[in-house]
Amino acid sequence: MESHNAQRRSYQVVIAATRDMGIGMDMKLPWDLPNEYQFFQDVTTRTSDPRKRNATIMGRKSWEATPLEFRPLPGRLNVVLTRSTCHNIPIDDGNVLVSSSMESALELLATPPYSFSIDKVFFIGGGELLRHYMNGPSCDAIHLTEVDISVPCDTFAPRVDTCLYRPWYSSLPIVENGIRYCFNTYVRRTVPNVGSDFIQYSFLPNMVFERHEEFGYLNLVQNIISNGDMNDNSTLLSKFGCQLRFNLRKTFPLLTTKKVFWLGVIEKVLQLVSGSTNPKEKGSNHIWESDEAKEYLDSFGMNATEEDGDNHPLLCGLHWGHSDARQELSQLSDVINKIKNSPHDRGITLSAFTLSVSPCQTSAQFYVANGELSCQIYQSSTEASLVIPFSIAAYSLLTCLMAHVCDLVAGDYIHAVGDAYVNTSHIKAIQKQLQISPKPFPILKINPKKTKIDHIEASDLDLLDI
Ligand SMILES: NC(=O)c1ccc[n+]([C@@H]2O[C@H](COP(=O)([O-])OP(=O)(O)OC[C@H]3O[C@@H](n4cnc5c(N)ncnc54)[C@H](OP(=O)(O)O)[C@@H]3O)[C@@H](O)[C@H]2O)c1
Repeated sequence: MESHNAQRRSYQVVIAATRDMGIGMDMKLPWDLPNEYQFFQDVTTRTSDPRKRNATIMGRKSWEATPLEFRPLPGRLNVVLTRSTCHNIPIDDGNVLVSSSMESALELLATPPYSFSIDKVFFIGGGELLRHYMNGPSCDAIHLTEVDISVPCDTFAPRVDTCLYRPWYSSLPIVENGIRYCFNTYVRRTVPNVGSDFIQYSFLPNMVFERHEEFGYLNLVQNIISNGDMNDNSTLLSKFGCQLRFNLRKTFPLLTTKKVFWLGVIEKVLQLVSGSTNPKEKGSNHIWESDEAKEYLDSFGMNATEEDGDNHPLLCGLHWGHSDARQELSQLSDVINKIKNSPHDRGITLSAFTLSVSPCQTSAQFYVANGELSCQIYQSSTEASLVIPFSIAAYSLLTCLMAHVCDLVAGDYIHAVGDAYVNTSHIKAIQKQLQISPKPFPILKINPKKTKIDHIEASDLDLLDI
């Protein structure tokens, strides 16, 4: 997306802000977070080409607010914006440039020698300039550290315009000096003349690009096909003891490098929470007989038939409702009851070990802290190219529904697998998938009017930006 030969460079914003988007007080940062500052240093300094350096553009006051010992910011070209011609900014050492406008700075950086020597351009504040340029048309991405505090500030940034930007990555919460914060990256939804399907996100700093959670899953399947143990008749490769982690706070982990049958996910989870033993009872739209479902299963070479019904390997792992639906439903209401009334209980668990006849025995443990509900599931043995993506979506949806009806925010979803395997006949398709770059995850919205889990229907769930 970032064009080096264009007449004007695009840029990425890097800032940290409080809940109210406060960024400064008395020309200082209103917090002391060394690791946050280190992240800022790393993002703005590291380059993809060791022969180049990055540029940081800042307002004159932000330049002056930077302690003397840190300015100019080392290893970067510092571009200071000022309308004044009489300033005392040292520009003779080749590390500092002064420009009279953002536009002229971006034009200068697009011309030689800067077009060759500058890798990425970061705009780092402050407030006066952010008001005009934070959501501006040349801004490709916003790296926003959300500092979870409310303190007096005299300088503010605008909020991220979510009509223009969507989350790429959000770190798990970090606590430093008693302050909770998380790193977030938002990417522009579309660029002129390029559909969102064609946007390549490799313009992001590597350390941010690689933090997309889908890489955790892609690395797992890569590891299975490269280093897995082969079974006796050479049909399966497997790894033992695998764990994936997803952040449910901002986005929903419906994998993007391979189609996951979302309607099937909804159908299966709603069937589970209704306690139905009949796959066609809830929703009754014969979803698993649809052309879309067959196409989805066939894409994995599974050649599904209607007789596969609930025994299909895809459905394995979502079997609480299988052997005794009423007993399983009461397990679910017990769990909801505990989450609401004794959230610090150390063992809020749904178990399918004793109840299920499924080959993938599954248990799910829930955990409440900081007003958030997290869930870890354990599957004893699971197929990785088809079933794990489906299970990630299904149990994440279950976690989000449980959080919703318990008036909590969905937190982490952890997927632990004992024996994760792939069929050797799927290796080619997996290798093809590994060539694809992930796209931003979608966002899940649940109808706020529905407060009972078994009242929720498919129409109450909206997956945005899918
Ligand atoms: N939390 C964060 O991530 C973060 C990041 C950066 C800064 N900050 C904080 O933000 C505060 C500083 O921000 P601020 O809003 O007061 O000032 P600022 O935006 O850093 O700088 C304002 C100055 O930039 C120049 N300027 C503004 N618009 C311009 C334009 N269109 N073209 C050329 N020059 C332009 C003007 O300089 P002249 O007056 O010289 O013409 C203006 O006075 C400090 O408290 C700092 O600690 C926080």
